[in-house]
Amino acid sequence: MTKPAILFVCLGNICRSPLAEAAFRKAADAAGLDAIADSAGTAAYHVGSAPDPRSIDTAQKHGIDIRHYRGRQLENADFTRFTHIFAVDHENLRNILAAEPSDGMAKIALLMDCVKGREGAAIADPYYDGEEHFGPTWEDVDAAATALVATLKSGAA
Ligand code: 4NP
Repeated sequence: MTKPAILFVCLGNICRSPLAEAAFRKAADAAGLDAIADSAGTAAYHVGSAPDPRSIDTAQKHGIDIRHYRGRQLENADFTRFTHIFAVDHENLRNILAAEPSDGMAKIALLMDCVKGREGAAIADPYYDGEEHFGPTWEDVDAAATALVATLKSGAA
């Protein structure tokens, strides 16, 4: 089996996708899954920035330090370096598919498609909302990360 290499993509790469990456790293570690994980944004607004402080606090609540993560924009090489690219919502999924180069190899899907019963769901953008919206964001990305790790462990992805 090729080592799984998973890229989580949101708009700014400072709120949702860093949390998805963190949740996935934690779930993969716990399950003993050897996988590569990263995150990126479809937009360039926050290239080089640390995650949003509310995401840093949310990850910290779950024992994960993401202060060293830095925003970056999705790039062509991601479509061959990663085995899977997951979008947090439909707009980002559309933009990822539109940016896919002709030699792209990665499977591209909506992140919540990983969760039975939540297929097709978007993870809401918490950026313009209050801190209380980051808890539900964590619940979503953590459910997806846990399900994804189980699928990868079973060799079904
Ligand atoms: P994210 O949230 O896509 O989950 O990182 C956002 C972060 C920044 C902006 C929008 C959404 N922004 O417009 O700057």
